[in-house]
Amino acid sequence: MHSLRLRPARDEDVPAMAALEVAAFLDSPMHRAMFPKRLRIKPGIQDQLEWNISRMRKGLSDPNLHHIVVLTEAPEKGEIIVGCAEWSAPAAEECEAGEDEEEGKTNEEKAKDMELRLARLPPFLDKGALLDANDEVMELIEKSKDAFQGENRHKMWTLNSISVDGDYRGIGIGKMMTRWGMERADHDKTGIWIISSSLGQQLYKSLGFRQVAEGSRMGEPQYLMLKFYDPGPEHNGTSTAARGAR
Ligand SMILES: CC(C)(COP(=O)(O)OP(=O)(O)OC[C@H]1O[C@@H](n2cnc3c(N)ncnc32)[C@H](O)[C@@H]1OP(=O)(O)O)[C@@H](O)C(=O)NCCC(=O)NCCS
Repeated sequence: MHSLRLRPARDEDVPAMAALEVAAFLDSPMHRAMFPKRLRIKPGIQDQLEWNISRMRKGLSDPNLHHIVVLTEAPEKGEIIVGCAEWSAPAAEECEAGEDEEEGKTNEEKAKDMELRLARLPPFLDKGALLDANDEVMELIEKSKDAFQGENRHKMWTLNSISVDGDYRGIGIGKMMTRWGMERADHDKTGIWIISSSLGQQLYKSLGFRQVAEGSRMGEPQYLMLKFYDPGPEHNGTSTAARGAR
């Protein structure tokens, strides 16, 4: 029996979190497409590690992102990080205004913005693969549009990433980190949507998520998992419980 402790991530956790995430996704088609050998600058997985470290450091200072870690006591090592996850909270009002602004832009302006964003990315990242993956995810979101039943996904919680150390899988760490976001979403009276791989599919289903659309990213199956806010039986009427049953 492992003692498991969940807490918000701190700056000093970042190297361990980055290593954990790289190891968890190393064999995924998305990871292989994003970090092709032909663009590699440093040996082994150094490029990916550096990229994750800088992305996570930036993420930790973003008030809309919530990084959590799960720790356990390991023999002779002391407390180690065995799970990490990144949640996005619903967008703040001013961000939504920003998005309206984005929607008001012409395709030319949007393409220019994207070009600028891509130019800031490190040379070892395959920008074409990143764009293709982004298009595929947007396609999956578009496919699931009806399932959202008019709810704005930007006003919901979403799980951006979740990784558990290979030696500690199947003992409830993934569930712990998913439940953390479910509690926050319940507190905010909002739902959750997740783009899931096959590995996460069962985890979210076991926690009451519905699979509402299926797609693929870089040849790997992806699923849109959705859970509306459910205030419980005493608040039914127009509740999301009724919505889920439709
Ligand atoms: C997906 C992942 C986070 C799950 O973490 P985990 O800590 O192993 O998950 P849990 O132990 O909490 O298990 C949750 C559920 O997943 C399913 N599950 C867990 N291990 C499983 C296994 N080996 N085979 C099949 N299903 C499994 C079970 O349904 C389980 O629920 P149950 O215990 O009520 O039956 C982990 O496998 C991982 O890090 N994968 C690589 C990274 C990744 O793909 N992340 C993206 C997921 S969208």
